Amino acid sequence: MSYYKKFRKLAFLIEPEKAHQLAISSIKLGVRQPPIEDSKSFSQTIFNREFKNPIGLAAGFDKNGEVPNEILSSGFGFTEVGTITPKPQEGNPKPRVFRLEEDNAIINRLGFNNDGMDVIFKRLNILQKKGIIGINVGANRDSQDKINDYVLGVNKFAKIADYLTINISSPNTVGLRNLQKGENFNLLLKTISEMKKNGLNTPILIKLAPELSKNDLKKIVSGCIEYNIDGLIISNTTISRDKLKSIKHSSEDGGLSGKPLMKKSTMMIKDVYKLSNGELPIIGVGGIFTGQDVIEKMMYGASLIQLYTAMIYEGPALINNIKRELHNEIKRLGVHSLTEIIGTKVE
Ligand SMILES: Cc1cc2nc3c(=O)[nH]c(=O)nc-3n(C[C@H](O)[C@H](O)[C@H](O)COP(=O)(O)O)c2cc1C
Repeated sequence: MSYYKKFRKLAFLIEPEKAHQLAISSIKLGVRQPPIEDSKSFSQTIFNREFKNPIGLAAGFDKNGEVPNEILSSGFGFTEVGTITPKPQEGNPKPRVFRLEEDNAIINRLGFNNDGMDVIFKRLNILQKKGIIGINVGANRDSQDKINDYVLGVNKFAKIADYLTINISSPNTVGLRNLQKGENFNLLLKTISEMKKNGLNTPILIKLAPELSKNDLKKIVSGCIEYNIDGLIISNTTISRDKLKSIKHSSEDGGLSGKPLMKKSTMMIKDVYKLSNGELPIIGVGGIFTGQDVIEKMMYGASLIQLYTAMIYEGPALINNIKRELHNEIKRLGVHSLTEIIGTKVE
């Protein structure tokens, strides 16, 4: 049994949210796995940013921007802070994070608990960035004008973010996912497009839910291309509870992440890659645990990937393990660079 698997037995005795706070505190104290070097074959330039490797830490781990440099120093190619709302908010009542151990999965209904954009801006603004930091913005639960909350977030962070994520796909803020549809989505696109015309030049990505119909996806993809959205993040957590082994916690409300999300999010990446003819860069996220999972997401159209839940189950050695596996896969496939495999499984 690996060192982390033994440690995990103890860590899993601690309530998940407390364990997460402990992880952040220990990262702040300098506890980290020394990273192995990135191979040249991992590097890519996307949205005018040079990524040393394609593996990012997904939104939700460092919601308040407390440890982005430490995360980058541990070997991630990029990290995404947030979700950040204009006003600080507590989120939903606790307990609100649950481990589904038999499934290597998590259910969370945190509800955008965060320090708010002013406090987090001050924290990030003084940082000497050690790499690529994306900032993920959302709307306050009690907001009467949710689109305006995104405008506030984008304006606040545009100067310091390497890219901005418009998160309209959390299942834990009532009504938020409706922004992915119909007139709401069009209004959001038009608003972003106006901001771009007025000088906004930070790449804008939109993060989607995995439960969109093909018809919705078609409209989203054509709208994003028409309005020059820079990319999509696919996907957020799922509200589906299909084929779970765990009995404990599986009926808790919230978004499910981890292994059960892998196939669903990958198939959505494939659909978007096909619909956009590979024109829209995709960050693939959902259920990635291994180098093979990274390859699978990239072959179905992702240019970059992110992960979160696997860190909980596999610990800090995960990133180095994935990079070693990627090395081997690159050799096995006989390619010179990861870029060559993007979309190769999409007909
Ligand atoms: C505890 C937890 C909190 C999360 N919080 C956020 C968030 O604030 N904003 C967001 O866009 N995604 C959030 N996510 C979703 C992740 O960014 C990611 O899309 C999802 O977990 C699927 O990836 P994974 O299977 O590798 O975890 C959260 C996920 C978890 C497990």
